[in-house]
Amino acid sequence: MAFISSGYDPKQPMKDRITDIGPKDYKEFLPPVIKKNYGKWLYHEILEPGVLMHKAESGDEVYTVRVGSPRLMGVQTIREICEIADKHCGGHVRWTTRNNVEFMVDSKDKVAPLKEDLLSRKHTAGSYKFPIGGTGAGMTNIIHTQGWVHCHTAATDASGTVKAVMDDLFDEFTHMRLPAQLRVSMACCVNMCGAVHCSDIGFVGYHRKPPIIDHKILDQICEVPLAVAACPTAAIRPTKVDLPDGTKVNSVAIKNERCMFCGNCYTMCPALPLSDGQGGDGLIIMVGGKVSNRISNPKFSKVVVDFVPNEPPRWPTLVKKVRQIVDAYSKGAHKYERLGEWAERIGWERFFEVCDLEFTWHLIDDFRDPAYETWRQTTNFKF
Ligand code: HEM
Ligand code: HEM
Ligand code: SF4
Ligand code: SF4
Repeated sequence: MAFISSGYDPKQPMKDRITDIGPKDYKEFLPPVIKKNYGKWLYHEILEPGVLMHKAESGDEVYTVRVGSPRLMGVQTIREICEIADKHCGGHVRWTTRNNVEFMVDSKDKVAPLKEDLLSRKHTAGSYKFPIGGTGAGMTNIIHTQGWVHCHTAATDASGTVKAVMDDLFDEFTHMRLPAQLRVSMACCVNMCGAVHCSDIGFVGYHRKPPIIDHKILDQICEVPLAVAACPTAAIRPTKVDLPDGTKVNSVAIKNERCMFCGNCYTMCPALPLSDGQGGDGLIIMVGGKVSNRISNPKFSKVVVDFVPNEPPRWPTLVKKVRQIVDAYSKGAHKYERLGEWAERIGWERFFEVCDLEFTWHLIDDFRDPAYETWRQTTNFKF
């Protein structure tokens, strides 16, 4: 911290700077072969599912073995990953944005022992701790958000839903037999920490009831203007309430018919929970988003299943619906065609038929305001 008493000189802010804020320069951590060939790479190839080879101008090669991670990881798992990296990769390891872990080695002969070591590590029940895959025309790890483990707004669990879906689609992680890559994401509420709007398949936690108001607690902990200002539909207004014991407290009133169950108010005020634990919460499924420019413009996802109940621990309905979509896509799409491109080619009406999904009025986007015309509908540059 920048206290004068600790020797901080405001005239020379960078002198003897002591701070633990912010990451170190990433270049300190590059494996030697990456550092040496930085910015001078020729091409890469996927040798087999989960194994990549990058070739540098100098002739150097880097072999990468990609494994799925459990996403939210305990210290024990991270220690084990570091131990593997120490043993095979000179202490270097990297995490990818889709929650995979990549072990890199600088020659081909080091790949087989690394793979063997990774696949030999299993959970007590027999499943792989570090399954190899996640490359090319297959499924990569599902990214997810915090869920019941941590977040206050969650309408469903993150790790639980993803584990259940991932278990069902595991073979698509270790093979490359789909028409194109399949990016699957999950977010546990519509705040959408999970980037579900731009993934081939996304499932999103969804509340269906307005907040429950705890007037007594609200008066003690809520900064009412914050909660009022947090509501995007202006459903909240300040009010005074008489408690059963006769005390008068400052609280809020919610116009339920204006509420869109977004949970923004709960972020500001913990006395306004949305989760009722009585079937009000669940998930929706979206499909067709992508970031890539290949074949067609980047696309946003569309909602195709308007509600899936929360069924912990294994979410059978969610798993079944996702499987229906993946099976129909893998059967119907051309090579290289992403899920959204396939759906557009055959037509969305047909998409619902072949995926055996029900089309309901909830799926019709009738939201129209100036933003509809002014917001960019793709991530491409427009001039
Ligand atoms: C006592 C009076 C007021 C209080 C306590 C109050 C409080 C707040 C609070 C807490 C926020 C949220 C700030 C944040 O997101 O960090 C906010 C935002 C805002 N308030 Fe007020 N406000 C008051 C009066 C007003 C008035 C009189 C107007 C307009 C004439 C106004 C217009 C806005 C607008 C437009 C925003 C959104 C700003 C933004 O997100 O860029 N507020 N207010
Ligand atoms: C020529 C006049 C104006 C210009 C160029 C202008 C420009 C802007 C810009 C650049 C933003 C930020 C948008 C963003 O961050 O996405 C903004 C936000 C805003 N402006 Fe203006 N503005 C103008 C007039 C006004 C007037 C007259 C009002 C109100 C009477 C107003 C109210 C607001 C509010 C409330 C926001 C925050 C919206 C939000 O964050 O939700 N502006 N304005
Ligand atoms: S998506 Fe919503 S519930 Fe999930 S971590 Fe983000 S804010 Fe929390
Ligand atoms: S859940 Fe969202 S729309 Fe409903 S009252 Fe809270 S902030 Fe407003």
